[in-house]
Amino acid sequence: MPQDTPRTTRFPDGFLWGSATASYQIEGAVDEDGRTPSVWDTFSHTPGKTLDGDTGDVADDHYHRFREDVALMKELGLQTYRFSVAWPRITPQVTADALGPVEQRGLDFYSALVDELVAAGITPAVTLYHWDLPQALEDEGGWTDRRTAERFGEYAAVVAGALGDRVRTFITLNEPWCAAYLGYAAGVHAPGRTEPAAALAAVHHLNLGHGLAARAVREHAPGAEVAVTLNLGWFRPDDESSEGDRDAVRRVDGLQNRVFLGPMLRGEYPADVLEDTAAVTDWSFVRDGDVETIRQPLDALGLNYYSPTVVRRWSGEGAKETADGHGDGASPWVACDDVEFVELPGPRTEMGWSIDPRGMSELLLRLAAEAPGVDLYVTENGMAAPDVVGDDGVVHDDDRVAYLHDHLAAVLDAVEGGAPVKGYFVWSLLDNFEWAYGYSKRFGVVHVDYATQVRTPKDSARWYSRAAAENALPAR
Ligand code: FCB
Repeated sequence: MPQDTPRTTRFPDGFLWGSATASYQIEGAVDEDGRTPSVWDTFSHTPGKTLDGDTGDVADDHYHRFREDVALMKELGLQTYRFSVAWPRITPQVTADALGPVEQRGLDFYSALVDELVAAGITPAVTLYHWDLPQALEDEGGWTDRRTAERFGEYAAVVAGALGDRVRTFITLNEPWCAAYLGYAAGVHAPGRTEPAAALAAVHHLNLGHGLAARAVREHAPGAEVAVTLNLGWFRPDDESSEGDRDAVRRVDGLQNRVFLGPMLRGEYPADVLEDTAAVTDWSFVRDGDVETIRQPLDALGLNYYSPTVVRRWSGEGAKETADGHGDGASPWVACDDVEFVELPGPRTEMGWSIDPRGMSELLLRLAAEAPGVDLYVTENGMAAPDVVGDDGVVHDDDRVAYLHDHLAAVLDAVEGGAPVKGYFVWSLLDNFEWAYGYSKRFGVVHVDYATQVRTPKDSARWYSRAAAENALPAR
């Protein structure tokens, strides 16, 4: 949806232009240098779990091609790069009770990547957890078990200690909403469980893991920023005047937004969420002192935003609409049987996600109000499109250029409204393994030919490169 041209096209001085990726989506090399399986190896190798049985075995072969990929970022003039560390490369023998020995070869890989970035003048931002939980931990309960959170804090200390002298920002978790609800309730993400109570236990232990990791980063990388990345939902009622629809918004806002923001920013779980879910769990996994541990001082909050969501109270008659953008598995929405996710009219991306950049500015302004003094970053935003390399060797992804333009305009709106947005990371640098959708969805500003591993910057990469060079929004 084209936005009105914002009043200014200039971004604040020092605004960082970057791109983002995640380990399992790009690295490949799944059994090299001591790495053991993650839940995503197991899940993607289970028949029927991913489209066409795609796996991350090879992905973009970034593990071997990272120097080429850093050179590409440099050529595009990108100033920062958000990547994630694969936990099973760092402590491959971890169990629920012990972290086990550190695998130096795993650390060396990320250390070499960081050095390469720094040499190219690109500021590294490290996500400690982007969903590739060691399978051995899942075998003992995964995120439903608090020992996973404890081990995560210890692993964070190892990574922060090894890379913290050169990394500007450590992001504890990526999108704990997806890890908990898509992994443990909907079953469309690893580990593929469909147990609503387990999903809420996972929410809490991810929150706890965040707190423990944030504390570990402070201690072991005192010069670095501590952050977390949330995929907050921008929820609106189908009918603003309907109390039922407004209550549906309250419910899903509780499950996706406030159940994380509450403990992280204020040290408390929202009472209405505990009440809404009382028939599913009594939350007795929350122990004394946990919420204080979760509430750690943050330097920055990362927002991942793609799409808006409209909900209404379901009357119980006719087919229920479930257009929440998360596939056809069981519902990730715990205790929301009477909430409908309304199919919106276009425009949409290749994921079927509708496009509305207003959500970006509204969520950034909400974060600015809820977390005063905390810097904000857009840590992911972008779109999947049916990109093809033309005979001229070029990918004309005008749809992506328009999407990026309109969402960056929304960032400017938020900045003008007072939100301290310090940078933007396009998702993604490269086409990659899009989880359950395998390689069928292309999110990169750089095209990857999976047969040859040839990288081809799309038109959007060139456009984005101009934006970065000018620190301003170019025309579409
Ligand atoms: C986000 C994930 C990221 C990518 C994008 C499209 O939910 O963090 O890995 O899959 O969606």
